[in-house]
Parts: sequence; C-alpha cells; structure tokens
Amino acid sequence: MLNTSFYYRTNSLIADTFPVAQIAHEVGTPLYLYSLKRALHNYYTIKEAFDGANIQAHIHYSIKANGNLALLRGLIAAGAGMDAVSGGEIFRAITAGASPDTIVYAGVGKTMAELRYAVEQRIGWINVENRDECDLINAIAGTVGVRQRIALRLNPHIVANTIPNIATGHGGAKFGLSMNIIEDILRDKHLFPHLDFAGIHIHIGSQLHDIAETAEAVKIARDLAFRHGIKTLDIGGGFPVAYQDGDELPHPSAFAQVIAPLVNGLDVMLEPGRGIIADAGILVTEVQYIKKQDWDTFVIVDAGMTELIRPMLYEAHHSIIPLEQRSGDSERVQVVGPVCESTDVFARQVPLVNPQRGDLLAVMTAGAYGMAMASNYNARVRPAEVMISASGLAWEVARRRETWEDLIRGEV
Ligand SMILES: Cc1ncc(COP(=O)(O)O)c(C=O)c1O
Repeated sequence: MLNTSFYYRTNSLIADTFPVAQIAHEVGTPLYLYSLKRALHNYYTIKEAFDGANIQAHIHYSIKANGNLALLRGLIAAGAGMDAVSGGEIFRAITAGASPDTIVYAGVGKTMAELRYAVEQRIGWINVENRDECDLINAIAGTVGVRQRIALRLNPHIVANTIPNIATGHGGAKFGLSMNIIEDILRDKHLFPHLDFAGIHIHIGSQLHDIAETAEAVKIARDLAFRHGIKTLDIGGGFPVAYQDGDELPHPSAFAQVIAPLVNGLDVMLEPGRGIIADAGILVTEVQYIKKQDWDTFVIVDAGMTELIRPMLYEAHHSIIPLEQRSGDSERVQVVGPVCESTDVFARQVPLVNPQRGDLLAVMTAGAYGMAMASNYNARVRPAEVMISASGLAWEVARRRETWEDLIRGEV
C-alpha cells in the first residue's frame, strides 16, 4: 500500500524524504507518522475532480477521521472548511484557526450545551437529525439573537455496499430523518423563525464502492431540495480508500461526473475524512517478541487495539510491512498487540521475512480513524504523532506521546 509519500528506497521505507526508521528511533514507538503533503494531494484530488465536473464544491474535512491540529491547520490553509460531530471538534477546529462560518456540525445526539456553543460561535451550519433539535436550536438562536442556518439530514433509505458497521443511510440506521418527517418539518417551518432551512444533508456511509448508490441518494435529496426551493446539498463524505494492493475503487472524479448532472443550480458541500488522511498516515510499531508454537508464529508488537482498533472493530484490513526489507522467503505470521484481549490481532496472514525482536513494522493506511479512536485501555499511553510538512522536507512531533502522569491527571 505504497504511494507517492510512502515508498521504499534501497529497501528502506521512506516517508516523503525521511527514512521512517530514523524518525522512529528519535521519537520512539508506537508512533503515528503523517504526510501533510499526501493529505493535501488527496484534498486537491477531490477538489479538482469536482472543479473538473463544473461543480463548485465546498470541502469540509471531517475532523472525526483525524483531528490532529497540525493536520487541521494545513487543510484550513489550503481552503478547507471543517465538519465536526461534537462541541469538542468545533473547539478543535476553531483552535486550529478555522473561521466559524466554515464549520458544519452534525450528530444524532447533540447536547443543549453543545448546540449553545455552536450557535454562540456563529458556526456556518448545523445538520439537524431530529425535530426536537429544531426546537432547541430555534430557542437558542432566538436568545443569542441570530438566525441559524441549518441543513436537514435525510436518511434516504439506501443500503450502501460497504462494511455494514459504517453504512449510515439505510432505514434501520439511527442517522438522519425519514422523508416524511422532513416534509412535515418543512411544512411547519414558520414555527421556527430563528432557523434558516437552507440545506439538505446526506451521508450514506463510509468507504463507498458503488457510485450508483451515491447517485441514487443524491437524486432523492436533490428532488427534496428542489421541491422546497432549498439551494444547498451537503452530500457527506465516504470517498473510498485502497487498503490493499489490487483494491479497485472509484476515483473522486467518477463520483463527480455522476453527481454533476444531478446538482445543477445547487451549491454542493462535501465532508471527506478518510479520503484525505487515510493513506497519508502510518502506524510504526516495534516487534517485542516472536513466539512460535504449535502451527503459528506470533509477532508481538508494541501497538495494539489501543492505537488502531479498526481491524478488531470492523475486521478492517491494513497491510503490514517492514521498515527495512530483508531478502529471503517470507513466512505467514500473526501480528498481534500486547492488549489483554484475544481480539487484539492486527492480521493473521502477514508475509514477513525472518521477523526478529526489535524489527520495526509499518501498519499502512492508518491515518484515518486510527489515533482518533485510540484509547487508554489497559492503562496504555496514547502514541506520539509526527507530521511531515507540506514540502516533505521537515517534520515535527505534532502531539507528544502521553505519559503515565497523563493517565491519572484529573483523578482524585
Ligand atoms: C456525517 C458524516 N460526514 C462525513 C463523514 C466522513 O466519512 P469518510 O471519512 O468516510 O469520508 C462521516 C463518517 O462517518 C459522517 O458520518
């Protein structure tokens, strides 16, 4: 799963211009390593795909995928807006320098305090998933003295062909509002004088493979928008990312070409997360032990489900490769973490050549939903994050490794 930023040069894994092992030796492991250059490349690929299809799309990076401030700053400087799902993410976006009016805020369970913060900060959009939210936001906006722009999140009842746990637009999902409820709200919009019903929002899932499903959902949302004179369509995120060699996935331009004829006359917003940062990040880990027993070889590393839970949560595949390639025949090993859970296995058939204690490995395509989902389970400290600059010529620790003191901070 190599790309323009992560590649081998004379058997050593390089990140932009730096041997990954050099950074790992300086910072220690486990370690998340990101390439801002690659993230910006992905951002511009999506932007140019939509520009090329004559859609003026506003890209709002989905902070949930990876909220590191260095990343947010880089994307904001490139012109991205932000997509937040909590008060904390709005705070992160504003701290990183986002102008509040470029922030959209979604979520099924926004609290009163979060909504108040969002309205007081004058954020651009609130994506509403519940009629009661309309009451709350209307009341808050009235008190603050503003008219809050909102988009109603439609559940288009489309079953996206993706990992079931990351499909969100089907009838049984908790996300969004059914068509009849949205029609009722829009019929009653005079009851909400402090709301500007300016948009329709959809997001049918992540890692979307099937452009036809996206087109179908966009068509349903577009028709709804047209019926009510609504001018903005937020079509969410979901651009797919290759996690293994040979994954054949639609390019953003394929989505743009299919969507373009459907959204004539509408403003379009996008909320990509994974598509921007997944392949711009790797998790670097050190082999602690090799255990050969019965018919298995276990390669026990110093990262686990506490650093990257996707394989354990979704059975997601991540390629695992050595920082220094060895010649010889590879054997198939289980790469496992140190966490006290039998599910703490990254992968079961990883080809490695003569793995040794002290070897450094890279878990590839780990930039999205990696550190963002990291935990302190087993009282493990969360790893450091390193960002390589947009030029590819400098790096810095963008977030220091936690300490044991961090683990008990806040406890009595
Ligand atoms: C509403 C919404 N927008 C955007 C995203 C980002 O999705 P992705 O990272 O697949 O682009 C998500 C992910 O769950 C989401 O729920």
